[in-house]
Amino acid sequence: MAAFETQPHGDRETADLQRSRERLVSNREEERRRLRRDLHDDLGPTIAGMAFTLDAARNLIESDPKEAGRMIEKLRKEAQEAVGDIRRVAHELRPAALDELGFVPALRSYAERMNADGDRLRVRVEAPEQFGELPAAAEVAGFRIGLEALANVARHANAHTCLVELTHRRRELRIEVADDGVGVEAGHEAGNGLASMHELAAELGGRMEVTRRKGGGTQVIAVIPTGVET
Ligand SMILES: Nc1ncnc2c1ncn2[C@@H]1O[C@H](COP(=O)(O)OP(=O)(O)OP(=O)(O)O)[C@@H](O)[C@H]1O
Ligand SMILES: [Mg+2]
Repeated sequence: MAAFETQPHGDRETADLQRSRERLVSNREEERRRLRRDLHDDLGPTIAGMAFTLDAARNLIESDPKEAGRMIEKLRKEAQEAVGDIRRVAHELRPAALDELGFVPALRSYAERMNADGDRLRVRVEAPEQFGELPAAAEVAGFRIGLEALANVARHANAHTCLVELTHRRRELRIEVADDGVGVEAGHEAGNGLASMHELAAELGGRMEVTRRKGGGTQVIAVIPTGVET
């Protein structure tokens, strides 16, 4: 496409930007579709089915109390499963740890669990005492980026130590995850993890980069604007 090649640089950049924006929107749509499917096509019919069984149990309660009892027991199990499903869907929207603990302690608690699993990898989390309130979107994106970066360290790095540094300064949330492992290969295949870390940051007008550290190991830096002065 010679015509495209000779286009001024600016136009090409605009086209790239447009494409990446379209990709973000289509991913967001995909996510909505999945949530809708989980709620409407799975949970909806499950709970409707429970209502039918409940009717049947009520009709049998006098003539066949044993069968009615069996039905109620089955309903109890189904209700428990439905609660589990709802928790899972809610977690996809916003991890519960963020509400229960807050951003920094939630990441710290994840790191502590990694340290407790018996592998040699030691993860340390450093963050200032006063972190400043984060907007919900930045908090969720930052948490997910941190978790995926740590999952990658555990899975690919073969590292001894990993340092997670969290800062919230000059209206920016910054997440740095550095390990002393084998180092990310220059031509590594991007999986879902890195792609979604890029997206999470880009969606909020931020950026994410993965580099090989000079002394060995990998460094992930994600920066997300928060609009909040600390
Ligand atoms: N900390 C790290 N140390 C070494 N290599 C890494 C590190 N993080 C990522 N990589 C490399 O980058 C690749 C892509 O990572 P990415 O998270 O996108 O995919 P993945 O972890 O292989 O699979 P998934 O889609 O389940 O996350 C990995 O397969 C690995 O080769
Ligand atoms: Mg990964």
